[in-house]
Amino acid sequence: MISYSLFIVDDEKTIREGLTMALEDAYQVEAFSKAEAAIRAIKSNPPDLILLDIGLPGISGIEALDKIKRLCPDILVIMITAYEDIDTVISAMKLGAYDYVVKPIQMDGLEATINNALETIRLRKEVQILQEKYLKENLPCFIGESNKIQDMMEFIDRVASSPDTPILILGQTGTGKELIASAIHFRSPNFKGQLVTVNCPAIPKDLIESEIFGYEKGAFSGANPSGKKGLIEDAANGTLFLDELGDLSLGAQSKLLRFLEEGEFYRVGGTKKLHIQTRVVSATNKNIDAMIQKGLFRNDLYFRIGVIKIKVPSLNERRDDIIPLAVYFLNAFNDKFGRSFTGISSEAETALLQYNWTGHVRELKNLIERGILVGKGPEIVPEDLGIEGKNVNHSGEPYKKESEFPPLPPEGIDLYSCLNSYEKFYIKNALEMAGGNASKAARLLNINHHTFRYRKKKLLSD
Ligand SMILES: Nc1ncnc2c1ncn2[C@@H]1O[C@H](COP(=O)(O)OP(=O)(O)OP(=O)(O)O)[C@@H](O)[C@H]1O
Ligand SMILES: [Mg+2]
Repeated sequence: MISYSLFIVDDEKTIREGLTMALEDAYQVEAFSKAEAAIRAIKSNPPDLILLDIGLPGISGIEALDKIKRLCPDILVIMITAYEDIDTVISAMKLGAYDYVVKPIQMDGLEATINNALETIRLRKEVQILQEKYLKENLPCFIGESNKIQDMMEFIDRVASSPDTPILILGQTGTGKELIASAIHFRSPNFKGQLVTVNCPAIPKDLIESEIFGYEKGAFSGANPSGKKGLIEDAANGTLFLDELGDLSLGAQSKLLRFLEEGEFYRVGGTKKLHIQTRVVSATNKNIDAMIQKGLFRNDLYFRIGVIKIKVPSLNERRDDIIPLAVYFLNAFNDKFGRSFTGISSEAETALLQYNWTGHVRELKNLIERGILVGKGPEIVPEDLGIEGKNVNHSGEPYKKESEFPPLPPEGIDLYSCLNSYEKFYIKNALEMAGGNASKAARLLNINHHTFRYRKKKLLSD
C-alpha cells in the first residue's frame, strides 16, 4: 500500500496537535507553526499533501501557497481558513489550492477532503506509471549481444540521465546511429517531450537555420507571412536530433552554439529572446575535422556539441551481433510479409559471419529482407542471401602485430585451412582453460555461445 506524507501548517498549537493526533495513524505527519519552516522542509523532502492555514504570522498562507506551487506544482494544498472569507478563498483557489476547510474543523469533512485529494494523487501516480510502462514497452528494439554494444548501452544509460548534456554519435553509415538517438531519448528524463529529428541533408542549406530556429514575419521572401516556429520549439523538454551534423549551414551553427552555451536563441528576423530546455543529440558519418580545416564547420561548436561522444562500432568489429541481428530481422520480415521461415541454415550463418559488412546493419537488414522474399524456406540458405563467396572479411585481427605472423613461404599457403587450424587451436585452448565450460570458453574468445558451439561442432568434428 502507498503511504502518503502530509504537512500541517498552523500557528495554533491546539489545532496542530489535534490534527496530528487524528491523522498520524493513517499518514506520515509533520507539523509546523510557520510557513517558512514548512517551505524549508519541502525543499528537502516534499510531502504529497499540505494542510495550510491562511492566517499565519510571517509569510501568510496565501504567499506560502504561491511559493509552494512554484516550488512543487504537484503537491496538493488544502487551505484552512478561520472564517469563510470569499475573496481570500478565491485567490487561494486561483493560485492552485486543491480545496479549503473552515475552522472549527469538522473531522468528518476534513477526512473526506483529504481522501479526495489522495485519490487525485493516486490516479496521477497511476497514470505516470502506465505512461512510463507504455513507453518502455514500445522502446525501439536495439539488438546487440557483443561486449562492445553492451558497454555502449551501459554508457548510454549513464549519460542519458542528465537531460541537458549534448551527445554526438559517430559511426559509419548504417551502424544504427538514428536508433541510438532514440534510445538516448527514451532512456532520459526528457522522454515525455518529443524526439524531433532534423534530417539536415534533406533541407536546403539556406533554409536550415529557419527550419531549426523558426522565423518572424517578413524574415525573407517566400516565407510564411505570419512567421513560423522552429523545430527546436517542438523539441521543448524533449530531444532535438540533428541527423548529419556536417550539413548545417554556418548561420545555423552559430545559433546552435549560442543555444548550447546560453540556452537561448532568436528566431530568424526576431528580436525576442526565446528560452527552452531540450537535449541536442547529433550524428555524423563525415570527417568533421576535415570540414573544420576547410572552414566549413566551427571548431568551437564541434567541441561543445561533442562533450559526450558515442562511437558506434562497425558491424565487422562486433561479429557476435551478426547472427542475433539476422534472427531479429528474420522474425520481423516473417511478420511483415506473412512468411514462416524457421531460421538460418548453418551454411548461411557461416556466409553471414564471413562477409565483409561495408553497409553494416542496414546491409544485413536488406539481405535478410531479400532472403525472405526470394527464399523457398523452411530455412534461409546461402543462395537466398546472394553473398556466397563475395566480399569475404579477412580482417579478423588474429594477431595484434603483423610482425607476429609466420612469413608466407615461397610455395604459398592454403589460406582457409590455415585459418581453420588457427581457429581450431584457439577453440581447443579456450575449452581447456574454461575446464570444458562452453559459455566460459566463448567469453574467452569474445564470441557468443551459439557461435562458439556452432564453430566447435564444425571444426572439432572434422
Ligand atoms: N542494433 C540494432 N538493432 C536493430 N536494428 C538496427 C540496429 N542497428 C541498426 N538497425 C536498423 O538498421 C537500419 C539502419 O540503422 P540507422 O538508420 O540507425 O543507421 P545510421 O547509422 O543512422 O545510418 P546513416 O549514417 O546512413 O544515417 C535501420 O533500419 C535500423 O532500424
Ligand atoms: Mg541515420
